Amino acid sequence: MKNKTLIFNWKMNPLTAEEAVDLASASDYKNVVIAPPFIFLNEIGKLFKNAKLGAQDLYWEEKGAFTGEVSAKQLAEAGVSYAIIGHSERRHKMGETDGMTAKKVLAAIKNNLTAVLCIGETEQERAEGKTNQILERQLVNGLSLAKAEGILNDSNLLIAYEPVWAIGTGKAQTAEGAMETSAFIKSLLKKEIDMDIRVLYGGSVTSQNLGEFLGYNEISGALVGGASLKKDEVKKMAEIIEK
Ligand code: 13P
Repeated sequence: MKNKTLIFNWKMNPLTAEEAVDLASASDYKNVVIAPPFIFLNEIGKLFKNAKLGAQDLYWEEKGAFTGEVSAKQLAEAGVSYAIIGHSERRHKMGETDGMTAKKVLAAIKNNLTAVLCIGETEQERAEGKTNQILERQLVNGLSLAKAEGILNDSNLLIAYEPVWAIGTGKAQTAEGAMETSAFIKSLLKKEIDMDIRVLYGGSVTSQNLGEFLGYNEISGALVGGASLKKDEVKKMAEIIEK
């Protein structure tokens, strides 16, 4: 499948550097981005020949008294080229707001990182018929600062549609449902910034269902959590995008 991107979000895994190096070596494919915990970035970055390095988060200030944070500039200096921003776990477990995602998108792009802005509705929002409204709010607010500066383009921005109810549950969105939502997001992007921006799907993606999602033009790749920690799954998923 041509021009499809896989982003592997390792979240807070694995436990040791040895395991991280082992998994990264088995994941070094073209059109694959690996986002390990910050602590493994340097070591993993050294071994890649094909894959690109991603970060799971960043802080918008360049440097200074911000205990525990890592800046977009530091990430760029470390060889990172993609940054996941506004992941649902950060929104819902760490209290990240739309306002924070906007500052992060701006900082990422100003430091030549591709911003991967994650948006998605919860199960309750979906049940209440609010999906489109939530997606529009997260998208418009998250892009607001970078839009105002006129720095967005179709290579420094990716949107990841990750329905919260599908993350880590084994209950993926249907491929057709993900396609329809991606089409909606693309239409919002067209209206908002007049660009054709790539949209990825995330939420219980495995080697079993990846091909169905990627079969649609509206879906340009996948953001994968759990399955990206298993070497056999990684190999199968890489084969699907290499075909
Ligand atoms: P799972 O693939 O484990 O559902 O996680 C998806 C995700 O949150 C990727 O960012």
